Amino acid sequence: MPAISFQSVTKTFPAARGGTGQALKALDDVSFNIEEGEFFGLLGPNGAGKTTLISILAGLSRATGGRVLVQGHDVQVDYALARRRLGVVPQELVFDPFFNVREALRFQSGYFGVKHNDDWIDELLDSLGLADKANANMRQLSGGMKRRVLVAQALVHKPPVIVLDEPTAGVDVELRQTLWQFIARLNKQGHTVLLTTHYLEEAEALCGRIAMLKQGRVVALSRMVDLLKSASSNVLRFKIDSELPPFLAGKARITGRIVQLPAHNAREVEQYLAAIREAGLQAEDIEIRKADLEDVFLDVMGGKALSGDGPPLDAKALSGGSAVREATSVGALSGDGPPLDAKAPSGGSAVREATSVGAIS
Ligand SMILES: Nc1ncnc2c1ncn2[C@@H]1O[C@H](COP(=O)(O)OP(=O)(O)OP(=O)(O)O)[C@@H](O)[C@H]1O
Ligand SMILES: [Mg+2]
Repeated sequence: MPAISFQSVTKTFPAARGGTGQALKALDDVSFNIEEGEFFGLLGPNGAGKTTLISILAGLSRATGGRVLVQGHDVQVDYALARRRLGVVPQELVFDPFFNVREALRFQSGYFGVKHNDDWIDELLDSLGLADKANANMRQLSGGMKRRVLVAQALVHKPPVIVLDEPTAGVDVELRQTLWQFIARLNKQGHTVLLTTHYLEEAEALCGRIAMLKQGRVVALSRMVDLLKSASSNVLRFKIDSELPPFLAGKARITGRIVQLPAHNAREVEQYLAAIREAGLQAEDIEIRKADLEDVFLDVMGGKALSGDGPPLDAKALSGGSAVREATSVGALSGDGPPLDAKAPSGGSAVREATSVGAIS
């Protein structure tokens, strides 16, 4: 039995009363399952429908059509049973200003009928770096600390299915790492995790499988490894101080001084570097790296990997269509043009700048 099952979920928000606007289809026939024990990523740009889908899952909002099951329990028909199995960290910071942190967690335990929960509450406080804030009033906490409390609240009844809607937005680097270690440990112990995030590096590092939503529709559904393999190119990355020739600027992703260009083969890399030389420009710190999740995401959202209005892509569609090109060995280029960094990162730990997508939230 899947941990979560979305079955043809549709959500339409009516047009605002008195306005001239149209009804909005926030979710359009969304169907996929998340199996027990998976670490699953739900990705998509702002407004794609991620929070709407999670609100329906959590019973906070009603689907216009379709069904959602949590471990076999319909979230509408069987609300209490479904809800008990879920721990949801909401995207919005909502909290009761009259409680201190420990009281808030005790109250939440009571809500789920869990008694004598102080040991687990202490472990949560420790793991989330909140131990010294246990007696602080919720109003006295910083934004990042409030988010940690929301995570603790979601986990207070040890739910088998953990749903995190941008749990690391506004959370500092150190705590992000602690938080992920903690969630990864829970996942290893068998908890299913559904995560939405705009930090695609985090998703790439953590999730075994992902779905991408775009305007309420599933546009990719795949194992992470297959998705990365399906990327159409490697990426040539360098720093430059001047404006690029228009031929390159049109294809490039530019973040300040950093330029990233998709390169399908060695010849393309040569062309790009030649164009830079001919324009009399100086590129520094040249690297070639494998495409990462952010590249794939931009490809998919840009419609490159999509075939019109066809069915949602799955792993097979992604690895069979024209979107797939084997990563060409561009590393063999050295000696031609400026020296390439032999240690150019090959994915994983590559240094990545906060580019458009990462910076959204
Ligand atoms: N209560 C509501 N009434 C009307 N429209 C809504 C409501 N909630 C969400 N929407 C609309 O539904 C669409 C999906 O919103 P949703 O919050 O699910 O996006 P999201 O993928 O979570 O985005 P983000 O990455 O910004 O959190 C958006 O166009 C949004 O404006
Ligand atoms: Mg959202």
